[in-house]
Amino acid sequence: MNRLSEEKSIRAQLKSGIAQLRDASVPSYTLAAELLLLHVLGRDRTWIYSHPEEEIPVANAQRYSALIRRRAAGEPTQHLTGKQEFWGLEFEVTPDVLIPRPETEQVIEVALDRLALRELRAGRSQKTDGAGLLIADIGTGSGCIAIALAKELPGAAFVATDLSAAALEVAGRNASRHNVAIRIRFVETNLLDRASPGGAQHGAPLQLQAAVAGNSSNHSRVAGDQPGYLDLIVSNPPYVGRREAATLMREVREHEPEIALYGGEEGYELYGDLIAQSANCLRPHGILVLELGHNGLPAIQPLLDASTWTRVSVTNDLAGIPRVLAAERL
Ligand SMILES: C[S@@+](CC[C@H](N)C(=O)[O-])C[C@H]1O[C@@H](n2cnc3c(N)ncnc32)[C@H](O)[C@@H]1O
Repeated sequence: MNRLSEEKSIRAQLKSGIAQLRDASVPSYTLAAELLLLHVLGRDRTWIYSHPEEEIPVANAQRYSALIRRRAAGEPTQHLTGKQEFWGLEFEVTPDVLIPRPETEQVIEVALDRLALRELRAGRSQKTDGAGLLIADIGTGSGCIAIALAKELPGAAFVATDLSAAALEVAGRNASRHNVAIRIRFVETNLLDRASPGGAQHGAPLQLQAAVAGNSSNHSRVAGDQPGYLDLIVSNPPYVGRREAATLMREVREHEPEIALYGGEEGYELYGDLIAQSANCLRPHGILVLELGHNGLPAIQPLLDASTWTRVSVTNDLAGIPRVLAAERL
């Protein structure tokens, strides 16, 4: 191999990409350089490591080098590749949605465990396919939570809300990609506003209830069956405090949507309304599962008052941070 083709080889390109990202202090720079190369070449890891001498066509080398420059300047890898894996599924991501995080998979785990335990307590088999269940995902973003649950619970119907119309478009495409679009109704609203029984008194259309009813004509207890009609509410709401903004990584602060990050000055401001609305919308024994920010628990757990909520549990993430709060409606 002559020197020129050596410079165009996969090994050389990767080495140069890694060095540029390392010099720019990009976190996980080796992985980022690899993922960008895989993306440009449309190959998997095994292939690139078994063909280190293969020459990269000039157009691909130029594309790779442009992506490396953008990553070095702070754009998240997922915005450059347009995808992120979550719960073993590939999700489209754009700058309009939060990039799904690994810790959010714990929301899915806790929700599935809670449903299984409830089945056990009712004397039914532990494994449920979710038949007849109505589930809401509040602040759905890419749709990752609703879609992962829909794959696990093929009998359940879902409503997924978000304030961001642009995020809902991405979520809709992800639902189609994973063949669950028919069971998830996406609604642009604040939290569960259009679902709360009080919403009707204030003249707001009960669009969310109608959406759920439309999704599950075989569920006779749906709309109008007040006060509660949902079996499970899951949410990973925005929970970063604006006063903490400076502590966020540049990739996050400058490139992820503010509406997905900040919950208010402190961060936990949305939880009060979310818990109050959930109390109205859940059926008796309905389950609420919430992801928390790193310091949210002391402010949020007391909102689950014992006159309304029972079986309160807290699950820590791998770093030992209280990450998921769950409770059951009395
Ligand atoms: C932290 S992101 C979570 C996205 C996704 N569920 C996930 O776990 O990756 C929060 C989402 O809530 C949405 N959001 C923010 N405020 C909202 C509100 N008041 N009502 C409904 N959705 C809201 C944002 O647009 C964003 O998509």
